[in-house]
Amino acid sequence: GDTKVPMSLLEKGAYINYQRIEDNLAIVRERLGRPLTLSEKILYGHLDDPHGQDIERGVSYLKLRPDRVACQDATAQMALLQFMSAGMDTAAVPTTVHCDHLIEAQVGGVKDLARAIDINREVYDFLATGTAKYGLGFWKPGSGIIHQILLENYAFPGGLMIGTDSHTPNAGGLGMIACGVGGADAVDVMADIPWELKCPKVIGVNLRGKISGWTTPKDVILQVAGILTVKGGTGAIVEYKGPGVESLSCTGMATICNMGAEIGATTSLFPFNSRMADYLNATKRPEIANYAARFAHNLRADENAEYDNHIEINLSELEPHVNGPFTPDLATPISKFAQAVKENNWPEELKVALIGSCTNSSYEDMSRSASIAKEASAHGLDVKSKFTITPGSEQVRATIERDGQIGAFEEVGGVVLANACGPCIGQWDRQDVKKGEANSIITSYNRNFTGRNDANPATHAFVASPDIVTAMAFAGSLTFNPLTDSLIGSDGKPFRFSDPTGNELPPRGYDPGQDTFQPPPADRASVQVAVSPTSDRLQLLKPFTPWDGKTPENLPILIKVHGKCTTDHISAGGPWLKYRGHLQNISQNCLIGAINSENHEANKVKNQLTGEFGGVPQVAATYRDQGIKWVVVGDHNYGEGSSREHAALEPRYLGGLAIIVRSFARIHETNLKKQGMLALTFVDPADYDKVKPSDRVDILGLETFAPGVNLTLRLHHEGGSHEDLPLAHSFNEGQIEWFKAGSALNLMAARAKE
Ligand code: F3S
Repeated sequence: GDTKVPMSLLEKGAYINYQRIEDNLAIVRERLGRPLTLSEKILYGHLDDPHGQDIERGVSYLKLRPDRVACQDATAQMALLQFMSAGMDTAAVPTTVHCDHLIEAQVGGVKDLARAIDINREVYDFLATGTAKYGLGFWKPGSGIIHQILLENYAFPGGLMIGTDSHTPNAGGLGMIACGVGGADAVDVMADIPWELKCPKVIGVNLRGKISGWTTPKDVILQVAGILTVKGGTGAIVEYKGPGVESLSCTGMATICNMGAEIGATTSLFPFNSRMADYLNATKRPEIANYAARFAHNLRADENAEYDNHIEINLSELEPHVNGPFTPDLATPISKFAQAVKENNWPEELKVALIGSCTNSSYEDMSRSASIAKEASAHGLDVKSKFTITPGSEQVRATIERDGQIGAFEEVGGVVLANACGPCIGQWDRQDVKKGEANSIITSYNRNFTGRNDANPATHAFVASPDIVTAMAFAGSLTFNPLTDSLIGSDGKPFRFSDPTGNELPPRGYDPGQDTFQPPPADRASVQVAVSPTSDRLQLLKPFTPWDGKTPENLPILIKVHGKCTTDHISAGGPWLKYRGHLQNISQNCLIGAINSENHEANKVKNQLTGEFGGVPQVAATYRDQGIKWVVVGDHNYGEGSSREHAALEPRYLGGLAIIVRSFARIHETNLKKQGMLALTFVDPADYDKVKPSDRVDILGLETFAPGVNLTLRLHHEGGSHEDLPLAHSFNEGQIEWFKAGSALNLMAARAKE
């Protein structure tokens, strides 16, 4: 029949819309007249305007309508605060918030969770009440890691999702295009603004053969990372295909897509198949599996679809790999790894082995690792290294507790951590080595950049499958190859591990465990959003003031930046991240890393009113408090780095009007426009040199501000002379409205009231 299929069992009134994909594709196919890859089908199936949209891979910018949004608790704070300032009643698409990033691993799951709830109480209270107020789903601390919960409850084949976390592509294991984005993009989609994505190129990975023995899905991505390197996927979607796909479990495919973030890919994706249907059935969503089967023609690539790049992998010949240290693309097959350890002088002793995390904590992963632990235990062995287990979700934790895997881990000395990111994101109170001491750890996680796990730059972190990590924990050494080497049992006899085995899905079904989900309440009007006026971590946002319609005149230059200015120079991370929900406090880091061209120092600029030097944020606030708007002048590629929206919010909050540069990093340029700032570029980059830090500036032409029409920068030099320089901009009509309204959200709020 044609009954509607809900996107998630946890939401009422939101349905999967395969018909839109079908209809959009009919239009797009007619226009393009060529076969389409799978990722093209899903993306073009979500176009805002399939008739008018320019479509050229690697060139055009697509305007898309995602099905859903997901935020983790660190990035959700500012996203939710911004959404609230738009004055809308409900998010435009189903949205969930997940508490997973703020829980530090110290002694073990239960105690660590209790401590985190205590420390982060005001953030959790804000997120719990803010989500309730605006109709979002809220996953409490202890529920698990965002990407596992999305796979278990929300991902579906052919869907399009954005998430404020770089490993959102995990949902590609269920055939969904899922992209990691910054908070600004999440807010847009929640506020019904289309999401812009540069039309991705497509890398095809053809899988042949069959996976078996010690080789796991993780080894596919470990090898792909070695081939493509950390930059090789940039601007592309990695699309897996071929007969080998059928030998991978759904959760295994998710592992591959998850770690695809390490090669810079926009996302990674698998075609709908029977293994996905198995997982959908096991997670109580047979209707989705059936619906997807009926639309399967849109959930796989066309024959003869063209790829921009091609990789072949024979799963039957693929070896387990170990990647690292310090970078996920240094891939070594296990047969060569012991030698590599010796040649490179990597510390041989394995201090800690960590399994689980968002990347590798499926029932299958846990069962296989438990089979290794049980075999070692039968030979009388405990782990030699420290051994931690991070379940990806409360559902996985409860199920592996019921089915005995947790018992098997604890039996050999393993410690089960909270269902949260923990050591994967550096939330790890590691005590066994001192800072600066060289040592080795191995994880089944995805990312192993210097210092990520334990903030110790001398820690050599390696990444492998949970099987390899678990086996090595018993050897206590990086040089152990479980495929060929023996260990000595407590009886003094050598033994070799059998091939790991484990069920892909729990034979007795999943145990949901504790109920950690808070759906939006029926009565939202009475919910009070909890933000204490005295909090130093959270602060409600006030809408920015609209443009007053006047020509800006005689503005001081806050800083003329010399050289590189990344989003880290504009809004530093590290300890400042604590304030990411408090715009006033985090604005104290505004541009403090940028180099002043006048004195080649950071965070030291002249206050043009007093002639005295001060910190950038302090001088900016002085101008603002006297009603004086200011500008920044910058060099090439201003704002490169991350999509961090604070880098645009802060200058706006401190009273900035325009950022005038030789060139912008595109995402930052758009973020500035969204916050109601003027992002302008010198028509002649050499004009940068004509600007003196002591100049006052006018920006002429705003009364006729229009796409493609230059503005003029009038420099008033000290001594009275002036000169005019042409300024280009990339505002389109809609973005000009953002400027006039004071911000994109102001405009959406005004529209929502109409
Ligand atoms: Fe990210 Fe690791 Fe958490 S990759 S979502 S930090 S478990």
